[in-house]
Amino acid sequence: MNEETKYLRMSRNERIQHFFLLSSFIVLVITGFWLKFPEAWWVRWIVYVIGENAFEARGIIHRVASIVLIAVSVYHLIYIAFNKRGRTLVKDFLPRKSDLTELKDSMKYLTGKKSDKPRFGRFSYIEKMEYWAVVWGTVIMGATGFVLWFKDFFFKYISNTGMDIATAIHYYEAILASLAILVWHFYFIFLNPDVYPMNKAWLSGFLTKEEMEKEHPLELEEIEKTTEKDKIQES
Ligand code: HEM
Repeated sequence: MNEETKYLRMSRNERIQHFFLLSSFIVLVITGFWLKFPEAWWVRWIVYVIGENAFEARGIIHRVASIVLIAVSVYHLIYIAFNKRGRTLVKDFLPRKSDLTELKDSMKYLTGKKSDKPRFGRFSYIEKMEYWAVVWGTVIMGATGFVLWFKDFFFKYISNTGMDIATAIHYYEAILASLAILVWHFYFIFLNPDVYPMNKAWLSGFLTKEEMEKEHPLELEEIEKTTEKDKIQES
């Protein structure tokens, strides 16, 4: 393999799933906080651009986007259960003992106690945490969102207190999820000096050799070992 070799990071199918996840999430964040803060300064801009009808439609748009998010989540479950690449993907996302060592080594590196950055495999402990946070967040938002959506039905079982708890969980998890994406995910995709100005894998699907060396050196070693083995077997 030469310097020009590209390494597949996200297949076309995975990029399409990611696209539906990110677009539905963005719409949910905007319409959700618009429902909560109808008088906010940025709401006035949206109403100015789109018109008063958009104001009335925000609840409907929120519900439509939630269906898209749930549909792509269900598709993802099918993908990780029945697709070979999907099964490997979720297996590689499972937490391992080595993640704790990587976390410890990262802390030492970031506080200047260690000179070498830990060497990650296909998914670092950070990427694993992000993945499981999305899984957990979607379950929480979906469950509490449906309680808010079908108020009359759920009210019979959980009364006013239950409704208040569901509303509070939905709201605070919305803040947590929005900050996790804006601060955490965006830092690693855009601002991280190793990938700045952007990790393009979500668009092109591929990483360069240089990016692999910086971000996933252990995975790169594995790939190169397999390629070498194939070359020996061929000759
Ligand atoms: C996953 C599926 C989701 C469903 C089914 C759902 C559903 C709902 C429903 C039915 C409401 C009440 C709407 C109304 O009063 O007309 C609501 C409110 C809200 N949603 Fe969602 N939602 C989901 C995901 C999200 C996400 C991902 C976010 C943001 C990250 C979000 C943020 C909000 C906020 C901030 C409110 C206002 C809460 C309040 O009034 O205290 N939602 N949602």
